[in-house]
Formats: sequence, structure tokens, C-alpha cells
Amino acid sequence: MTTLFTSYRLGGLTLPNRVVMAPMTRVRAAAGGLATPSMAAYYAQRATAGLIVSEGVQPSVIGQSNPGTPGLHTDEQVAAWRPVTAAVHANGGRIFAQIMHGGRVSHPDTTGMRPVGPSAVPAVGEVFTPNGPQPAPTPRALGTAEVPEHARSYAQAARRAVDAGFDGVELHGANGYLISQFLSSNANLRTDRYGGPVANRIRFAVEAVSATVDAVGGARTGIRLSPGGTFWGVEDTDVRELYTALLTELARLEPAYVHLEATADEETLVALRRAWPGTLVMNPVLPMGPKQTGREDADHWLGLGADLISFGRAFIANPDLVERLRGGLPIAPVDEATYYQGGDAGYLTYSTHQYEA
Ligand SMILES: Cc1cc2nc3c(=O)[nH]c(=O)nc-3n(C[C@H](O)[C@H](O)[C@H](O)COP(=O)(O)O)c2cc1C
Repeated sequence: MTTLFTSYRLGGLTLPNRVVMAPMTRVRAAAGGLATPSMAAYYAQRATAGLIVSEGVQPSVIGQSNPGTPGLHTDEQVAAWRPVTAAVHANGGRIFAQIMHGGRVSHPDTTGMRPVGPSAVPAVGEVFTPNGPQPAPTPRALGTAEVPEHARSYAQAARRAVDAGFDGVELHGANGYLISQFLSSNANLRTDRYGGPVANRIRFAVEAVSATVDAVGGARTGIRLSPGGTFWGVEDTDVRELYTALLTELARLEPAYVHLEATADEETLVALRRAWPGTLVMNPVLPMGPKQTGREDADHWLGLGADLISFGRAFIANPDLVERLRGGLPIAPVDEATYYQGGDAGYLTYSTHQYEA
């Protein structure tokens, strides 16, 4: 019987269990988008996960969404990541980098550049900047000839990720960031080959994955999607048709996995499971929703055909989450106030379960 604790062959890796650490931005990088020794300790503490997916990492200056996030577009950034991946490996783990291009969810105060997006439509809400939250600016719509270089930026970052010792990359195609903006029917109002009908709106995602598979191989490439999600004001009018078409195209490229968020109803998600022949990583609850993923959600989704289950918030507060799940031990609550606070408090200070003597 498949349980969270049976091993799984993913691309070229053998995962000792099916527990994935979901990508989580923690804004603790040093100036220049450099990873730090604290980040190495944080990920190493969580190395018993079957697979760690890192926080979102920008593939270019203009792709940075939040201040304080790490990058993978300079040699210094590659060098700074090496001790992080080495620490995870030394502790027996595996780690993919999540490549995140913010697109319109960005700000000139953060990057020094006007954000770009599929169309000149601002995100809904306020974006984080070094000077506090500010209204999302209107992005510059990318010209048709410029779009491929942004798709290729994921592949360039993937090459650097592998150079830095990551086992692979996950393209952030979810939560209202650039790939998700292209998929959306209200953030993408283009009339060229990247907008309009479903076949055009999926093109950017497919080009980004295709370029990444060419760069580092399908076994090292995953993508995260949030079908029907409305983060930062994105909407898709035709969720099932759009994502079925996307998964069908992606299947030809044979990436290692698709990572789905539970942003649509279960019937739609199960239909997408059927439309996807490869490995499915499932994140079973609504991101930023009231309830965090627990053991029951995981077992439910393994029963519905997911191969791997990702846990977010539980991993922040429980570095030994795998052992706690296996032993039915208490899951410590997370302190939201320290998500993005910086420093080691609420980052390196969560302990493993303490057994009574
Ligand atoms: C502090 C924090 C930061 C997050 N950053 C990211 C991110 O960088 N990329 C991403 O795809 N999802 C991000 N998420 C969403 C999580 O990956 C996950 O989908 C969400 O927390 C729901 O799962 P959970 O209930 O297990 O926490 C973040 C969530 C939290 C709590």
C-alpha cells in the first residue's frame, strides 16, 4: 500500500518518503540576492523531507518580486547557494530551486526597473517594497519579440541552479506570478500568439518548461500550478480546458513533475490528475487559507492518485516533520509574525520533537 513513507523514484532521484517541503519565501537573503549560512542551516534542518523545494528565486533583476529574496542570475549567487545545497546533501536530503519571475507583482523601488507583464494591467493589491507596501504598479506590456527571452530566463536560472548543486528546479507557474499572468484571461489581454485562445495563453508556460528541459533535462524540471487561483487578481475563465490543454502539452516534454495547488474544486483537480500522466505533487489546501496541510489531507490525496504531498507551514514550525508524521507526534504551531521578519528567530529556532526521558 502507498503511504507517505514509501519511497518514490522521481527523475533520477530516489526519495525515501513522499513528503515534500513546499516552496516558501522567507526573505532572508543578503544584499545582492545572496543565500546565507542561516539559509543553509534552515534547509539542512529539514533534509529528512523526501524533497525540499526552495523559496522562490528570481531568474533576473526584473523578475524579483519581493525585497530580500535570493537570485540565480549572477556568479556570486551561484557561489552563495553552493553551501546550502551541500548542507542539504550532507544531511541526506534533496533540493530543487523554485524559479520565480514576479512579472507585474514587483516594484521599481525593489528592482530599479519598471515591472513587465503580458499586458499593461496592474495586479490587485499592494506589493512589498523596501519602503513598505505600495499599490502594484502598472507593468509594461512585453513586446512579442521580448517574450521568449523571459521564457528562457527560467532555463538560464535552471542551469545556474544545477551548477550551484541543486538537484533540479521547479518553475513557479502559480499564484499570480509571470507564468500564471500569461495563463490568466484578465491579466493577459494580448492579441498576439501569447494571448487570446487557450492555445496561445499556455504558450509562455510551455516555452519556459521546454527551454528548461532543454537546458537541464526533464528529470530535473518541475512546474507548480494553481488552477483557478485568484492571487493578485488573476482569473481564468476556463480553468478545466486551459489546464487540461497545458498538461497535455507539458506531457510531451516529460518534466519530472507537476505540483498542483488545491485552488479548484476537487472534481476539477481529480480531472487534472487524470489528464496528467506523470508524477503529481499535490499541495492539498488553499495557500494562505485558514487550515494548513495535515496527515489526513495527505492520505486523502494519496488515495485520489497524487504521488507526493507537499507541506508548507507545518515545515516551518517542524523541521522534523517527517518523523512527527510517521510517529503521530504533535505538530507545533507556526508563528506567522516571523514569516518575513528576517533574522534567525522563527527561522532556525523551531526544535525537533523532544521525547520524554
Ligand atoms: C511564508 C510563506 C511563503 C510562501 N512562499 C511561496 C513561494 O515562494 N512559492 C510558492 O509557490 N508558494 C509559496 N507559499 C505557499 C506554500 O507553498 C503552500 O502552498 C501554502 O502554504 C499551503 O500549504 P500548507 O497548508 O501546507 O502551508 C508560501 C506560503 C507561506 C506560508
